[in-house]
Amino acid sequence: MGDEPAIQLLKVRQLNSSGSSFEGVQTSVPSKAVDLDLLSSSQLAAGKLKMTTQFHPPDGASLKDKVVVLTGGALGVGASLVRLLHSSGAHVFFGDILSEPGQALAGELSSSSSASKVQFVQCDVTSYADNVKIFKAAYEACGRVDHAIANAGLGEQGNFFDPELTMESVEEEPRKSIKVVDVNLKGELYFARIASVYLRQPDLNGKGATATADKSLTLVSSVAGFREDPGLYVYIASKHGVMGLMRALKGPLMRSQPHGIRTNAICPWMTRTRLVAGIEDTWHAAGLPSNTPEDVASVIVGVLAEGKVNGGAMYIEGGRAWNVEAGLLKTRHEWLGEKQEADLDRGTELMGGGSHWVDNKSSQV
Ligand SMILES: NC(=O)c1ccc[n+]([C@@H]2O[C@H](COP(=O)([O-])OP(=O)(O)OC[C@H]3O[C@@H](n4cnc5c(N)ncnc54)[C@H](O)[C@@H]3O)[C@@H](O)[C@H]2O)c1
Repeated sequence: MGDEPAIQLLKVRQLNSSGSSFEGVQTSVPSKAVDLDLLSSSQLAAGKLKMTTQFHPPDGASLKDKVVVLTGGALGVGASLVRLLHSSGAHVFFGDILSEPGQALAGELSSSSSASKVQFVQCDVTSYADNVKIFKAAYEACGRVDHAIANAGLGEQGNFFDPELTMESVEEEPRKSIKVVDVNLKGELYFARIASVYLRQPDLNGKGATATADKSLTLVSSVAGFREDPGLYVYIASKHGVMGLMRALKGPLMRSQPHGIRTNAICPWMTRTRLVAGIEDTWHAAGLPSNTPEDVASVIVGVLAEGKVNGGAMYIEGGRAWNVEAGLLKTRHEWLGEKQEADLDRGTELMGGGSHWVDNKSSQV
């Protein structure tokens, strides 16, 4: 995918004056990042152009010697990510609750000829102190952290809205189900808070502390972070929460000193890991697209390596990615109206750096 010529990145569908449409390729645009940004609001409002927000992830070559912290690295997407980052020359510090596969992966990569560091840190992301441990390990070994990825996740545990629930059984607290919120949302909130501090620290070795250093926080959400999926009640609520966290942080963290921190979300659809074990056959028989864990890892690495995108939400399907958040923002005037769009932005601006809310004691108990 990374080898596709840039010209293919801007396929547009255009309506001619008689109302029929044709597919075309816009040839005059050299950028490969977010082609949607190249379309003006007036072009979109006039309904003349249909846009794509496809994101073509660059490879990880620019991540050589970068220091990356991530969670959920023992299996699935996280393990692919550890491998891909390490093979790109990044120093990788990864946490997971599963010690055996985590240690085995770190041991295997450490014994390779690569000079890049790799370290497994046993952690439960629902523990604040455990999240701190991973960042500390990276900072002590390398003197800085460049990129942080909250990836650990847990699938739906039981049926939270079981139609068989009775007035008696509903009295029992659904602890197992709520663990999903603890891992997927509380864990990412903890991780993001600690990341925001470590990512803005000066480099202990005197490198990379300039305002131009690229720092990023990537939050793994899901397709369930922006749409429904039958039966995934708690999972969906937690992953929508992760999307909310990305939206809340994309502004303030970019204003961090001495360098801004980019915040993005990753929204994979069906990916062939333990999380979806047991449903692959049905999915495959229906002919629906799915991702390998390596596909998702490549998009995450691309978001880190691309160095510009902030506030993006990368939907991943069949190994390809689209920045769905960019599409949502760019078309607001169409589905909300121009006045409402402008008012929304004015309201956000009015609250400025957020001090109105943070300092407002009357709303705190
Ligand atoms: N597989 C999919 O179809 C899919 C789709 C959308 C989003 N995702 C998300 O991708 C991420 C990776 O999931 P995956 O598909 O690789 O699943 P996976 O089960 O293979 O991997 C999840 C990893 O998270 C770790 N983990 C779970 N609870 C933890 C805890 N409390 N503390 C530390 N580590 C913990 C697991 O041990 C495992 O290594 C998750 O956030 C998941 O929600 C997956």
